[in-house]
Amino acid sequence: MNTQKPQRIDKILSSSGYGSRKDVKKLIKAGQVFVNGNIVNDAGFQVNPFVDQITVAGEELIFHEHVYIMMNKPEGVVSSTRDNKDVTVIDLLDGEYSHRKLFPVGRLDKDAQGLILLTDDGKLAHRLLSPKNHVEKTYYVEVDGKLDEADTNAFAKGIQLEDFVTLPSKLHILESGNISRCYVTICEGKFHQIKRMMKARGKNVILLKRLSLGKLKLDESLEPGRWRELTEDEINLLLET
Ligand code: URA
Repeated sequence: MNTQKPQRIDKILSSSGYGSRKDVKKLIKAGQVFVNGNIVNDAGFQVNPFVDQITVAGEELIFHEHVYIMMNKPEGVVSSTRDNKDVTVIDLLDGEYSHRKLFPVGRLDKDAQGLILLTDDGKLAHRLLSPKNHVEKTYYVEVDGKLDEADTNAFAKGIQLEDFVTLPSKLHILESGNISRCYVTICEGKFHQIKRMMKARGKNVILLKRLSLGKLKLDESLEPGRWRELTEDEINLLLET
């Protein structure tokens, strides 16, 4: 049984997309809100959204405590909640979740692309980002210059950067040439980490795309800039990460 504490009805409706607290008050005043079949007159009425049946204008409300969205971040968009000059991943949601305080879990550079998770679940974000949990992230990477076994071994051993030595990581070479292609899996998330690791091996990253975060994989059918909510299965995968 879910033992979530009761909360004010106006707060629940507002966080479920029924507008501001003021909008919700109007709905209540208009007699549109029912709990367990009884009309609600008071915006401060206490309900347990996991137990009580709430209907608004005849429609049952299915309450989700948190929102989880996967986005295929395009290049040129910054992974922060606000920015004075650049478009952010939150801007790409077009206000659709403005009733929730969503934030991106971790950072992807402005010129990087691929999987970014947006949520309002602070606990999960903390678990995924905590360095001690070593959550794996896999990237598709293109570099200028050849990749070889010495690079794979250096990644596996840990690479000395200016300020620290990286933890062992995986470099899987797909193609080596003037432009090389590979997958890189790291379990840290330091500033510009893959770019700096490649630089230490004498190569520049020319394309960087995140493919997975823990057990969550990017849905490749999402065009750059598009997003969707996670399925129940995907949420469960993340929660067991
Ligand atoms: N490594 C980088 O260099 N940049 C990112 O955005 C992610 C990993």
